Order: sequence, then structure tokens, then C-alpha cells
Amino acid sequence: MRLFKNPLNLIFAAALLLAACETPQELSMIPYPQFEKTTSKTVNLPATVTFSVNLPQPEMDDLLAYLPSYPLPMELSDKNPFVTIEVSEQTDTPSSAEGYKLEISKRGVNIKAKSATGAFYALQTLAQLARNGKKLPVTVIEDEPRFPYRGLHLDVSRHFFDKEHVKKQLDLVATYKINRLHWHLTDGAGWRLEIPGYPRLTEFAAWRKAANLQDWGKYDHHYCEKDEEGAYGGYYTEADVREVLEYARLRHITVIPEIEMPGHSDEVLAAYPQLSCTGEPYTSGEVCIGNEETFKFFEDVLNEVIRLFPSHYIHIGGDEASRRHWKACPKCQKRMKDEGLKDESELQSYMIARIEKYINSKGRDIIGWDEILDGGLAPNATVMSWRDTEGGISAAQMGHYAIMTPGSYCYLDHYQDDPETQPLAFGSYIPIGRTYSYDPAPDSLGTDITKYILGVQGNVWAEYIPTKEHAEYMIYPRIIALAEVGWTPQSKRQPESFKRRINNEIHHIKAKGYNPFMLSEQVKSNQTVDYAKKRIMLSLTSEKYPIDIRYTTDGSEPTASSKLYKKPFAVKDSILLTARLFDGKAPLGKSLRLRTDYHKAIGKQITYAKDGGYYQNKEVYKGGGDTGLLDGLRGGMSYMDGRWQGFCPNDLDATIDLGEVTSIHRVVANFMQVRTPQVFLPAKVEVWASVDGKNFTLLNTDICSEEEAGKDVIFRDFGWIGSPTQARYVRFHAIQGKKQFLFVDEIVIQ
Ligand code: ACM
Ligand code: ZN
Repeated sequence: MRLFKNPLNLIFAAALLLAACETPQELSMIPYPQFEKTTSKTVNLPATVTFSVNLPQPEMDDLLAYLPSYPLPMELSDKNPFVTIEVSEQTDTPSSAEGYKLEISKRGVNIKAKSATGAFYALQTLAQLARNGKKLPVTVIEDEPRFPYRGLHLDVSRHFFDKEHVKKQLDLVATYKINRLHWHLTDGAGWRLEIPGYPRLTEFAAWRKAANLQDWGKYDHHYCEKDEEGAYGGYYTEADVREVLEYARLRHITVIPEIEMPGHSDEVLAAYPQLSCTGEPYTSGEVCIGNEETFKFFEDVLNEVIRLFPSHYIHIGGDEASRRHWKACPKCQKRMKDEGLKDESELQSYMIARIEKYINSKGRDIIGWDEILDGGLAPNATVMSWRDTEGGISAAQMGHYAIMTPGSYCYLDHYQDDPETQPLAFGSYIPIGRTYSYDPAPDSLGTDITKYILGVQGNVWAEYIPTKEHAEYMIYPRIIALAEVGWTPQSKRQPESFKRRINNEIHHIKAKGYNPFMLSEQVKSNQTVDYAKKRIMLSLTSEKYPIDIRYTTDGSEPTASSKLYKKPFAVKDSILLTARLFDGKAPLGKSLRLRTDYHKAIGKQITYAKDGGYYQNKEVYKGGGDTGLLDGLRGGMSYMDGRWQGFCPNDLDATIDLGEVTSIHRVVANFMQVRTPQVFLPAKVEVWASVDGKNFTLLNTDICSEEEAGKDVIFRDFGWIGSPTQARYVRFHAIQGKKQFLFVDEIVIQ
């Protein structure tokens, strides 16, 4: 008690105690707010959550129409309500229209917002905080989004998803403060919007005989009549669209329609072949730009789109148009001559600029995929950057707005886990951690650029997504990572915190009747090579939390009593790491098996044969460049992780100089095959050895079997293992079968 003799000490002790009570708590919230001050105190939620709100009538009606979908039952009451919502443009915190201030104290909840949207987002936060038990944390949150555009894109052409599916997704993504639906309504696999005057779009070009897109080849990708037996497809009527729009509006989501042009228009040309360069159906996916009727068609379609959709933005596509048919078309060539266009890129730009002018004349603006930059950007266009980030950055440099949706972070149709455990997907591997790691507007770009970056979007292309359940599996939880990317300031985003919160979140999503991917049940590894100490440091992680990682280094299957991973460890020679997740004593998923070799060729000289060098046209495929195959770093599941070196159409033909004659017994390299993006195993690999660099002896020819060649996804070592042999030079020659891409991460010599 001596401590308290001095009144100052007493104050000090009280402050300590207070601090102990107010240990910061991590809120169970996504996206994480910009600012929060949370205590460990809680307040009980009343059985009936009463609320008052000062919204004017039409917005009040909107809120009341939404509330039946709100997870927390609420009742309007003017008598001492538990939740008070004050909406006023005059309020100074928050500062932006979508922001809010939420105070939870023993007296109840006070919400301040500048607009109905801010109040809506405050309610989403409140609902998240109310989920874990009947208590709310005592907290003050001041929150607003980093970016105004936070989007979900849905492709309903490749597979048609009905309005109920679309509404179901809107209901959930709105709770994560997503505010845009980019509705990809038209594409070469089906037109999905009823257009007056063009009945063939929806009675014919919306239907095919094969449900699965990959089976449609059996029908030469031809459409069928709506009434034909076995017709698969669908479209939205005006009433459907209005229903979705109203549903979105009540959730503060703007729906941006996309009408694809001039490419990805096979379905238009099947229905109206006179709009193609040849006048025949099924001859191209691009409309004829030399034909005035093409413009009449799109203007008519856009009139209807503008009549139905209140969105300021209309997306006009613009991606992946082949210019081949325009080159051979007299009408297109005449157009180029008349308009002084020097090439077919400028012809495409002519069309986009003309369509933009039309849309601008109706008081709207266009968004186009980043190809619209290629032949000159239309004056007022906003660019959606998908091929990578360069398109968006170039647009911003020119003073145009950009929306970032780079394929290697934001494409939610790509694999999110080991392809061997997943349904067929688009080729590359984009686990949630990669999606979360994306920063759409890094400080390094400077504010002159970043001020034009409107935000970020997750794209759900449906070529490999045949069912609604599968769509949800691909969307969640990665879209939630992007919701946080779009909302939370970069300085407040922490992968470890997100990992804890998303592990909680997936159970809530599932309980609501969705089908999320429940996060990977596989251990992930990372390596760093310490060349000075001749060792590789291995670290292990997982998407799951909390979880144990157990491992062995001799190739045996880990059990519940195997070594528990605690921190990175060093490998000085060779191990076969086998690591698995354990939930207590129960093993999950499948084991990670990873050879790690501090091998004899690390850091040695490699020379590529003249026609045996790696692909130069994409930075990420260079896989570490000239030293990449001998750097000790092994690739993961994506050929885009910077560790895999690509060869196309060349063979991989390289000779390694070990510096001196050395005893070797194993020369292998790992190759991957992922069929959807045309990545294949080699047809065969030859390993040669030489003492003098002139006379080489063939050590082995390792042939790809027919069974292996037929697999959708396979990783396999090719090379030679034999009795110790003296060599200074090793020639590794992987011979292409398909002349597409070979990918290899390391040539291991032991
Ligand atoms: C796209 O993925 N073709 C925009
Ligand atoms: Zn033409």
C-alpha cells in the first residue's frame, strides 16, 4: 500500500488500471475502419434494438424497405432509442459523403453521417460488431473509404445467372461496403439484355445447346432457338433489370452495365450477321466498323441501356478485338481512308470515340477496358486497367480516370488454391493473400497520378464457372479482401490482422447460406537464399487461423506429434519438407511436399543456346532472368510468382558450368502443366554431361507419358538420377511438345 501514500502515485496507478481496461481490441470487422478507439468494455444489446433517424421521407422509405434484409432486427422508436442516427450535411465528422461516425457507449449507439449512404455503412459496421454474442464493444469509430469506386464484376454471358443470384450477391457485398456492380451483360457466349426492336438477341443469341462452355465446341459454338429442346441460357427482361436496380439502390450500389464492342460480339453477329465484315454469321467476333448499320445498332442498344440504367457510367468493353477481319474488309478499309486512320488500332479508337460522343450527348460517360488506349484514347473515357496496371497509370498520366482491376490480383476466376484440389478454373493462381496485397494507388506513383485512380474491382469471368454455387465459391472470400483494399487506408491494412478476421468472416458467410471457399487447407512456404552462408531459410505459413503447422524433413507424412513449426529454419543441403496443417490432432487438407536444396549449381554460370533462351516479352515470365534457374528459389503454384521462367516457342536449352569437375548424381528441374492458359510439360528432357565442355555424354532422356500429357494440372520433375558421375558442364535440354509455354523454376544439380 506504500505506493498509494503519495497522491501522485495514486493517480499513476489509476491511469495504469484504466489503460489495462482499455487494452486495444481488434474489431471483428471488414473492411477495417479508418480510425477506431476501442476499449475492452462492452454494452449489452437490448432484446429489441430501437432506433431513431432523421432522414427525409424518400430516403427514410428506402431505409425501411432495406431493413428486413438487415441482419439485426430493428424497430423505429422516438422514446429513448438504443440507436440514434443523425444525418446532416453540416456534420464535420465524417468529412465525406460515404463516411460515418459511430459511437458505442453504455448509453447506446450514436451514428452521425453526412448522407443516407454514410448511415447505411454505419449500420453495416454495427451489424458486424453485433455478431459475436449479444454484446457490443464500447468504441468510437470514424470511418470513410479510401476510394470512391469499390466494385464487383459479374460475367453473365459465359454462364447466365438469374436475377435472384445477382441480388443475393449484392445483398452480401453491400455489407462489406462494395458500391458498384459491373454487370457484364453481353459477350460472345450469350446476349443477356432484352432490347426492343432486336428480338433475335434474346430469342436466339442468348441460347446454346451445351450448358458447359467447354462442351459448346461440339456445336461449333452455334446458338439455338430459345424454344429448342435442350436450349440453355437466358436473359433479363426490363422488369428483371428494374428489380435488380432497385435492390442495388437500396443497398447503395450503382449498377454499371457493359455492352461489349467492337470485339467479343460473336453473339451479335450470329443474330445480325449483316453487322460483320463478311456479312456471314460465325466468321468473326468483331463488328464491322465500316458499316453505318453497326453504329445504328449500338446506338439503339445504348438508348435502351440509358433508359433503363441510371448509372452515370456505361461500360463499352473495347478489349481483345482482333483486327484481322478489318484488314481484309473493303468497308473497314474505306472507313480508314476516309477518316485518315493509319491502322486498325485507330479504326477501333474511331469507333470508341464516336460511341463516346453519343453517350456523352446523353449526359453519360464511358468506361472501357485498357485496350481503348491503343489507338488513341477517347476524350472523356475512364480506363479499366486489366492487362496489368500500366493502362490505368497511363490513363491517369493523361488526366483520365482509371479503375484498377489487374488480372494478377483482381481476377476472381483464377485458382485460389492448389489446382489439384480445386474445380477447373482459369489458369493462374491468385490466393487471397495476393489479392489482399494489392495497392491500387501506391504512394510511389505520386498524387498527380493517384488522384485519378477511382478505385478497385474484382472480376468474376464465368468461362469455368457453370453454377451459382461455384460462382460464390470463387467470389468469396476474395472479394472481401478487395473490399478492404478499396476502403481501408493502406497504412491500416495488415495481412496478419486480415487473416484473423477473414477466418472469422467465412463462417458468417456460410451461415448466411452462401458457398464460400473456406480458405486453403494447405501449408504455404517461402524461401530466402543466404548465398554467403550457403543456406536456404524456409518459412511456413497458412491461410487458416488459428492452426498448427507440423512438418518432417525426411519425406515422411507428418502426424499430430511431428515437429510444430514456430519460426523460419535453415536448410544447408537437401531436404524433402513435408508439412501439414493440424486443427488440434486432426490433419487438414493435403500435405505440402517441397524439395529444398542448397545444391551444387546455385550461383554458377548458365549459358542458353541460341534458340534455347527464355521468353523476353513479359517481365514476370523471366523468372529471375539469367541467374533465375540457379538461384535456389523454387516457384509456387503460379507461373506468375516471378520464380518460374517461361519458354515459348523455344526449347529450354542451357549449359551450366560448375566451375570445376564435380561429382554429380542428380540433375532435375520441376515443370508445371496448367492446360487452360496453355502451359505444358516438355515432350522430353535430355541431360548431358561433359568434363571439357566439348564432348558431351547423354545421361538420360526423360519422356513425358501420354497420361501425363493429358492432365489439366500436373507438376513433375524431369531429369536424371544415377550413380556418381564426373562433370564440369551439364547441358539441360527440355524439348517442347506443343510449342506453347514451358515453365521451370530451378535446375537442381547434386
Ligand atoms: C478481359 O479480361 N478481357 C477484360
Ligand atoms: Zn468491316
